[in-house]
Amino acid sequence: MTVQAYRASLLHMLEDPCRAPAEVACAYHADGLLVVDAGHVAAFGGYADLAPGLPADAAVTDLSGKLITPGFVDAHIHYPQTDVVAAWGSQLLDWLNTHTFPAEQAFADRAHADEAADFFLTELLRNGTTSALVFGTVHRTSVDALFEAALARNMRLIAGKVLMDRHAPAALTDTVETGRADTEALIRAWRGRGRLGYAVTPRFAVTSSDAQLTMAGEVAAAHPEVLIHTHMSENLAEIERVGELFPNARDYLDVYDRHGLVGPRSVFAHCVHTTKDALSRMHRAGASAAFCPSSNLLLGSGLFSLKQACDCGVTVGLGTDIGAGASFSLLHMMGEAYKVGQLGGEVVDPMHAFYLATLAGARALRIDDKVGNLLPGKEADFLVLDVAATPLLARRSAGAKTLAEQLFVLQVLGDDRAVEATYLAGRLAHRRDGTAHTPGEFAA
Ligand code: GUN
Ligand code: ZN
Repeated sequence: MTVQAYRASLLHMLEDPCRAPAEVACAYHADGLLVVDAGHVAAFGGYADLAPGLPADAAVTDLSGKLITPGFVDAHIHYPQTDVVAAWGSQLLDWLNTHTFPAEQAFADRAHADEAADFFLTELLRNGTTSALVFGTVHRTSVDALFEAALARNMRLIAGKVLMDRHAPAALTDTVETGRADTEALIRAWRGRGRLGYAVTPRFAVTSSDAQLTMAGEVAAAHPEVLIHTHMSENLAEIERVGELFPNARDYLDVYDRHGLVGPRSVFAHCVHTTKDALSRMHRAGASAAFCPSSNLLLGSGLFSLKQACDCGVTVGLGTDIGAGASFSLLHMMGEAYKVGQLGGEVVDPMHAFYLATLAGARALRIDDKVGNLLPGKEADFLVLDVAATPLLARRSAGAKTLAEQLFVLQVLGDDRAVEATYLAGRLAHRRDGTAHTPGEFAA
C-alpha cells in the first residue's frame, strides 16, 4: 500500500492540559499534513514542512477546511443496552430491574448478539469512536459475538463478560465457578487476536458475592494483560446497599480493594459520589475513572466533579454509558461534561474535554502506547471532522476566533453529523456520505 497523506487542520493532545501548559499539552496545525504508512502514523505536522519530503507516489487527499483528530476512546459503554437508550422515569436500581435486565436476557440468543454487535460497532464508527471499553452480558457468547465483529473491522476494543451471581434475575446470573471458567475461556480464546483486549467485568458490588469478587481478583492477577472494569459510587441508593452488603468495608472502593480489584488496570465507571480520600487512594493505586455525564444526568445520579478527580491525580476518561447515557457521540459527551461542570460550579475547558475523549481515555484503558494521539508510530485511528456539518455549526464555526472556541462549538453543537470519516489503522471504516475520499479506498 502506498503512503497516504491527508492535508487538513490537525489537532491532538500530548499531555493532560491540567498538568502541562497549553503549548506542551496540545499540538495544532491549521494547515497540517498527516502521513500514514502501513496503518501507522508516519508523520504529523505542518503541510509546508512535510509535503516536500513525501515519496513521489504518495496519495495526497486534500481535506482543507476539515479537522483531523485522533479517534475517540469511549471509556465505558454497554453494547447490550442499545435497546434501552431513552428509557423514561427511573433511577439506577429500578432502571436495572425494569429496563436493563430484561434487555440483557435476550443475549442468550447468539443471533440477537450478532445483530446487536454489528449495529453497535457501526454506531461507534459513525460517531467517531475507534476504541471502547465495553460491557457484554453474563453470557459468554455475548463477548464472542462482539469480538468477532470487532476483529472483522480491525477495531482496538476491550470487552468482558459480566460477572453477576446474586441480586439479579436467575436467567442472568452465573456462579463463582462458571464465571471463572467462562472468563478464563474468553481470555484464552481471544488473547493476541487482532487489536482486542479483555476486561474482567464484575457488574458492581451489589450483584457479586464476596466469593465472586475474590475470584475476579484472582483471575485478574493471573492475567497481567487484562483490565478490570466495573461500576462504583454512581447512585446514593446503590451506595447504601453496598454498605449493607459489605458492612466491614471502609467505603465502596475498599470493597473492591479487599478483593484485589484496585490497581493500574482498573477502570471504575461513574465515581460520582467518591470522596477525596477514595480518589487519592485510586490515584496511588493507578486506577482510573470513567466520567459518564449523559448517564449521570438522565438517571439523576449526581454531578461528577472533574476538578476534584483531577486535583487528586486520577486519570479520567469519558464514557457514553449507553444505554443509561443517550448518545454514542463523544463530541456530545464533551458538551454534556461541560453542562455537568456548570451545575457543579466548575468550568470544563474545551481542550480538557477533548483530552478526556482521546489521550486520557487511551491512558485509562492502557492503550496509549498505540492510540490516543497521532504521534509517529501510533496506529492511524483518526477522524475527519466537518466543522460546518449543519447550518448552525457552519455559522458558529465561521465566527470562531480561537481554536478553543471552535472546539467548544463542536462539543456543544456536534455529534455524528460532524464525523465526516473514521479511519481504523489507516483504512476508511466509515464515511458519512458512503463514498471514499480517494478512489479504491474502501477496497484498499
Ligand atoms: N451499575 C450496575 N450495572 C449498571 C449498568 O448497567 N449501568 C449503569 N449505568 N450502572 C450500573
Ligand atoms: Zn455502565
